[in-house]
Amino acid sequence: MKARGRFTNRFGFIAAAAGSAVGLGNIWKFPFEVANGGGAAFVIMYLIFCFILCFPVMVTEIAIGRKTEKDPVGAFKALGFPRWNFIGKMGVLAGLLILSFYNVVAGWAFGYFVQLTFGNFDIGDNFGEYINNIGRVGSYGAVFMLATAYVVSKGISGGIEKASKILMPTLVGMMLILVIYSMTLPHAFEGIKYYLIPQFQEINFKVVYNALGQAFFSLSLGMGALITYGSYVSKNNNIISSAALITISDAGIAFLAGLMMFPFVAYLTQGAVHTVEGGPGFIFQVLPGAFESMGPMIGRIIGALFFLLLSFAALTSTISLLEVPVAYAVDELKVNRTYAVWFIALFIFLMGVPSLLSNGDSQFFTNFVTYIGAEKPTNFLDFVGHIGSDTLLPLGGFLITIFAAYVWKKNNLNEEIETGYPGFKGSFVEKYIDFAVSYLCPTVLGVIFLLTLLNRFFGVEFF
Ligand code: TRP
Repeated sequence: MKARGRFTNRFGFIAAAAGSAVGLGNIWKFPFEVANGGGAAFVIMYLIFCFILCFPVMVTEIAIGRKTEKDPVGAFKALGFPRWNFIGKMGVLAGLLILSFYNVVAGWAFGYFVQLTFGNFDIGDNFGEYINNIGRVGSYGAVFMLATAYVVSKGISGGIEKASKILMPTLVGMMLILVIYSMTLPHAFEGIKYYLIPQFQEINFKVVYNALGQAFFSLSLGMGALITYGSYVSKNNNIISSAALITISDAGIAFLAGLMMFPFVAYLTQGAVHTVEGGPGFIFQVLPGAFESMGPMIGRIIGALFFLLLSFAALTSTISLLEVPVAYAVDELKVNRTYAVWFIALFIFLMGVPSLLSNGDSQFFTNFVTYIGAEKPTNFLDFVGHIGSDTLLPLGGFLITIFAAYVWKKNNLNEEIETGYPGFKGSFVEKYIDFAVSYLCPTVLGVIFLLTLLNRFFGVEFF
């Protein structure tokens, strides 16, 4: 049998895992969650959740992967608990679902890069038409999936690692340019003030809940993406410091995204940042206008750069989403990697077609379901997101920590972490991970899962 792939070094692993983490979640979703959640008050909560709650889950996933050197389904079997491999299967399913809609949005972003390169600033006002031009957004989505599949087909070190090592530093560079530029715009300071001064009175249960969900999704947890990446990491890697670096990069880039975005918004609204409604269409509807008013040449450059950055961020994430089902097919079903990649990519692209059609083009998919107690129907794209990310990820995280603490047992988890980090035993980190994995994470994630289920689908009001 051919040897499994491996990351060549620590930087390669961290670049790939941080690439998975940094994505549409950081740049598309984070700023509008901030805007809706009391500015810095949301940011502070987000950071706390990343480090207190998500970090231990990340360490656990990487440890399971590295111990077993298997895909998420095979990992539970390899540890001797085949009955628990349903967690891995759920992860594979979540990966398929998330990628199917994520790729649609990534395709929009990539299309915007093309449009703004040609100076088509009206695209923002025509966003509704744009996403309903199925031939066009469908092709952008197809190109995006092709790029993803191409990278994944090249394997771990020659594909995922290589692409991440190029894309991630480029992304940070582009972001710094945009942050600096946005700071020079008129009213920039008002934007920054809005972003960095906490409005604690805006915080309510719903905001806390959103910050948690955002942290969890943003760090790519709960579906075994990091079990998979962890399985390609060498034994002398320090899991704790790697996980810390991945978390810091992800939170840091989300933070920078805010520094870039809020001055743009302040510039556009002449300082009246609070008048802008944050929402999913925000980046696509509002920003092109801001770019246009920077002048035809600068606006084109800055606008194209922005959407290229968004596309790069999305690409390193779609890669990790595709790698999970591919690893499963390769390790468990013994399929040749190249076949697995192209077949699964095509399959997911087709799964995404209803999402593509669900923004008005097809009435059936646009008004797909009306949840109990809801006033408006939910479209297919959002529905898949509610199942794939909002429901399956916290459930996955809950089960993974329960498994690690009570089935696999903590001494085994600790032993794996110690390999590569001899100082772990007896350290404060050990005590903390112990507490978090046994009590804190399962409790919080279990509650989040139940609340989502009841609130979202059954109309039970908690907040
Ligand atoms: N973290 C990515 C983002 O913020 C999305 C993502 C990629 C993801 N891979 C994942 C989320 C695996 C959950 C699980 O956009």
